[in-house]
Amino acid sequence: MSTLVIVGTQWGDEGKGKIVDVLTQKADYVVRFQGGNNAGHTLVINQKKYIFHLIPSGIFWPQTVCVIGNGVVVDPEVLINEIEKLKKEGLKIDSDKLLVSEKAHTIMPYHKALDLAREKKAKKNKIGTTCRGIGPCYEDKAARKGFRLIDLTYPEIFKEKLKIVLEEKNFILKYLNAEIIKFEDIYERYIKYGEYLKPYLTDVSRVLWKAKKEGMKILFEGAQGTFLDIDHGTYPYVTSSNTLAGNACCGAGLGPLEIDLVLGVVKAYTTRVGEGPFPTEIKDKLGDHLRTKGNEYGSTTGRPRRCGWLDLVLVKTAVRLNSIKAIALTKLDVLSGLEKIKICIGYEYEGKVIDYLPSSLIEMSKLKPIYKDLPGWKEDLKDIKKFENLPKETKLYIKTIEEYLEVPLYLISTGPERENCLILKNPFEN
Ligand code: GDP
Ligand code: IMO
Ligand code: MG
Repeated sequence: MSTLVIVGTQWGDEGKGKIVDVLTQKADYVVRFQGGNNAGHTLVINQKKYIFHLIPSGIFWPQTVCVIGNGVVVDPEVLINEIEKLKKEGLKIDSDKLLVSEKAHTIMPYHKALDLAREKKAKKNKIGTTCRGIGPCYEDKAARKGFRLIDLTYPEIFKEKLKIVLEEKNFILKYLNAEIIKFEDIYERYIKYGEYLKPYLTDVSRVLWKAKKEGMKILFEGAQGTFLDIDHGTYPYVTSSNTLAGNACCGAGLGPLEIDLVLGVVKAYTTRVGEGPFPTEIKDKLGDHLRTKGNEYGSTTGRPRRCGWLDLVLVKTAVRLNSIKAIALTKLDVLSGLEKIKICIGYEYEGKVIDYLPSSLIEMSKLKPIYKDLPGWKEDLKDIKKFENLPKETKLYIKTIEEYLEVPLYLISTGPERENCLILKNPFEN
């Protein structure tokens, strides 16, 4: 086993960062392949909290090379700040430690301005984006009007194209009643970013191909979650990239047969930030309790996350869409102290029982979750180091999930710290 893709099976924030950090101990490369700084991945090491938006979560392991693939959209200012912060922590972040695809697209100031202005104008119909310019940047990539990071290192070509692109962007910004953006406010600044990032820029696809051939262990770190996928998520309440495991190949430049295993991260309940359907959402005090106990506030925007019961219909769909063959179950400790726990195992839709998520928003709004009730447990799980020592009710909860999904559990996370983790099977060990 040498290549592992880790993806979220819900609406993001499943605890991917933590699982990636734990498994990177045995990895040579950690690769981000989509999304941008809309992601917020949290690591807690020796009680210190780190949140990464662009830098892959394996950065603290000394042997690991961190890679940002071509499928990522990069806000250079955010990336440079993350690099500088890590340097201040005493880490050596040179071009041996961090590689960035020269083909990755650049988030420009007008992308952020457009994202903000559209959300403001949409009022009731807003998506609830992170306002980081992610959508507008992917739009330009598809429209062939984007700037790849390599373009920032060719000042004259950058200058000409920027003038043309900016004219159109300012026309739209005016329409949206937003401030226009001046050429002088971008050009010099972005050329400087290009100079700073140049040593890190490379052809990631070739590096990974060589690494794979040499039998190196490569871990792909998904961002967002399956139901924020632009095609298979709860459209239009989704992000602007494909978040599914299949996109690890396109977003890093490796062929589909190079992937050995996909591991899905499942939060023991469900959360979502921003607008959009959420069949098992709990809108009463219990939802507030989960938010407080699970510290469910956005790692990127600080917004309160909406909380609800575990929806296995969704997770099983994620298993299918991603070829998930291994599961990491996170935040199980947050459920301690509940008398009864519910798991959604189907939906009632117009009098019929269904086991899939319909495609239309109207149909989604009519779903009534069908729950299985399970007994809760009181014990704190954080310091339990062996599966056998988990309370019998916790084991029943886990068994119910495994049986429904028909996928084995590899890891159980029982707290935010690196140490709060039961590794039942390490995918990098045979
Ligand atoms: P990601 O975007 O999937 O990487 O997840 P986030 O970092 O945005 O959100 C997960 C939050 O839960 C972070 O605050 C983590 O520190 C925390 N966390 C991760 N695993 C666990 C766990 O097993 N138990 C608890 N209580 N917190 C966890
Ligand atoms: P990680 O990687 C949770 C959500 C936003 C919004 C929608 C579109 O930390 O799991 P965007 O800014 O991408 O255009 O916003 O997607 N969203 C996330 N929700 N976790 C994330 O990332 C997210 N990234 C985007 O809240 O609803
Ligand atoms: Mg997050």
